[in-house]
Amino acid sequence: MSVKPILSSERSIAMDPIGVFDSGVGGISVLRHIHALLPHEQLLYVADSQYAPYGNKTAEEIQSRCFVIADLLIAKGAKALVVACNTATAAAIDAMRERYSLPIIGMEPAVKPAAEASKNGIIGVLATVGTLKSAQFAALLESYGRNVEVVTQACIGLVECIERGELTANSTKDLIRRYCTPLLAEGADTIVLGCTHYPFVRDLISDVVGKDIVLVETGLAVASQLKNRLIEAGLLCASQSVGEVKFWTNSTAENAAQVIENLWGERAEIKAF
Ligand code: DGL
Repeated sequence: MSVKPILSSERSIAMDPIGVFDSGVGGISVLRHIHALLPHEQLLYVADSQYAPYGNKTAEEIQSRCFVIADLLIAKGAKALVVACNTATAAAIDAMRERYSLPIIGMEPAVKPAAEASKNGIIGVLATVGTLKSAQFAALLESYGRNVEVVTQACIGLVECIERGELTANSTKDLIRRYCTPLLAEGADTIVLGCTHYPFVRDLISDVVGKDIVLVETGLAVASQLKNRLIEAGLLCASQSVGEVKFWTNSTAENAAQVIENLWGERAEIKAF
């Protein structure tokens, strides 16, 4: 029996990888959910760490970084993109969707689930300055924050701690205490981790605010949304083997690869770009 070779032009684009990126290593918290939910998909992750944090940049600056990275991921064959960054989604997703035709999944702070979870109707949102001052966040509050009191707190400097891999340092905990204290003082019983870096210090946050405060993040919801989009577009990978996960970073830090492997949780292929 002869087997007809698959010509590259016939190869289904469903076999192509999914590109995921963030201003730095934070989006790895989302990547972990994507890999768990869609283990057969090949994943490409770009950490734009040299330009982190995005949180204090203008929307134009963030958009131009997003275009650079999207071009890179598309050149590597991405069939879909995940903007694993709340700040970049707020600043650039509309411009990206105008410029590229592939599916692009973004994210926003989990105000809706937090409002539903809160028992006393007071929720806190920890996020970057860029996210909190964006029109998208204002629209989110308008849609889902009407029946609750929402207390917001920009966490300047926290992304940098996580980029340096200081997940358990006292200085990181001090910063978290400084940012969570006002939310507790206002009575928040539910806190949104509105930046993809923050799930990596979830234990420290929980230590500071206490076990009774509910912490809400968005990684799993983004992975589910990605899965639905891939199904709708006929782009879900049919392979039965575990998909490869590859990383690129432009960080100049000596421990950049170590930080990525630590957050990813296993040895990884990491290249510079
Ligand atoms: N991880 C990002 C977010 O979800 C951005 C952090 C930053 O670069 O300021 O908002």
